[in-house]
Amino acid sequence: SGYVTLDSGYKNTGATKSAITFLDGEQGILKYRGYPIEELAEKSSFLEIAYLLIYGTLPTQNELDNFQYQISRHTLVHEDMKKFFDGFPSHSHPMGQLCSLVCSLSAFYPESLNVHAGKEEENTTILKLLAKMPTVVSWIYKKGIGHPIIYPQNDLDYVSNFLNMTFGQRTEKYVIDPVVVSAMNKLLILHADHEQNCSTSTVRIVGSSDCNLYASISAGISALWGPLHGGANQAVIEMLEKIKNDGGDVDKWVAKAKDKNDSFRLMGFGHRVYKNFDPRAKIIKKACDDILEKLGINDPVLEIAKKLEEVALSDPYFADRKLYPNVDFYSGIIYRALGFPTEMFTVLFALGRLPGWIAQWKEMRENKEPIGRPRQIYVGEVNQEFVEISKR
Ligand code: CMC
Repeated sequence: SGYVTLDSGYKNTGATKSAITFLDGEQGILKYRGYPIEELAEKSSFLEIAYLLIYGTLPTQNELDNFQYQISRHTLVHEDMKKFFDGFPSHSHPMGQLCSLVCSLSAFYPESLNVHAGKEEENTTILKLLAKMPTVVSWIYKKGIGHPIIYPQNDLDYVSNFLNMTFGQRTEKYVIDPVVVSAMNKLLILHADHEQNCSTSTVRIVGSSDCNLYASISAGISALWGPLHGGANQAVIEMLEKIKNDGGDVDKWVAKAKDKNDSFRLMGFGHRVYKNFDPRAKIIKKACDDILEKLGINDPVLEIAKKLEEVALSDPYFADRKLYPNVDFYSGIIYRALGFPTEMFTVLFALGRLPGWIAQWKEMRENKEPIGRPRQIYVGEVNQEFVEISKR
């Protein structure tokens, strides 16, 4: 009943009030809880940012140590979960595995189902999810390469433990490279929240039905998978590879992206909210040069990416539509330099976005938001006569 405003894709509709992330798309400004992303990416660790997003303030050293300790108590994942994990084909897409595994945590940790249990219970579920996500992600990586999983090592910090479970071997000690740890922290921080994007809105809307945290986040992971959202990081590298194998003719591919009869889009370009440089892309581009140099890697697709950016930015098609490189444009080149296969990229995005999703789910509950339920404008038939199937 009443008047319904149509806003396809929610381009102008605010769905919530939020105090987590500030974004000014015209100016290209991004802040978590009021702190500029540039400073956070430079000076903090991912766990510190997770604390900031979820609890609202930067932790003291004591608070951070305690947070790390609490998380380390939950890094193991129920052994029985491995039984169903073993059933995935070894080359099934990591994102398909991730959303199923995260949702299944609600079956293995059923205390999460009662979302009215209380603040302490809610916080334990949050800590469990933060703790188990890196473990599960490392399982997926190990399956992809046919190696046995590595158990968590709780004396390591959050990111180092993840790297150890991922790249460590049972046969020898994994030497953790500080360059890799710092790059990983930076990438995860840059992905940690981005206000009401497709996956975050999904988490909030699913959670608004009093659905448990694991299932709500699993829905967000599914939303992230699409190539118009987080799946773009995989699509970017695949596109750059294609351009390279096609002879590196960047102009030809830019022309293809402009052609309205061609469904091809420049992956890693454009954004619903940024009509200026995506500040995350600026940081990642610089980090990309830095990290590849430090690791002594020369990746030919980096040159193609830079050329593509230059050609696109000087083209009126992209200028008129204010299409700039986004967070996904250079991130894959770093992930690849760190040793991750392309199909894992969106999983890494999910690992980074996890604290943001949790913070948004928690805020939605604290705000006591009503169940999300958009309206529609019905354009179908209204008066049809039913005809028996034998007479149709
Ligand atoms: N290549 C070529 N043309 C584009 C592109 C692109 N990447 N992005 C937008 N356009 C054009 C689009 O065709 C339209 O042109 P016209 O006005 O002539 O019809 C105009 O720009 C506006 O685009 P839109 O699709 O209406 O914009 P949107 O806000 O609905 O979509 C987007 C935003 C991110 C889905 C889109 O820019 C896109 O598909 N980009 C490529 C995929 C990508 O990189 N996604 C990652 C987004 S950032 C991080 C994340 O969310 O994970």
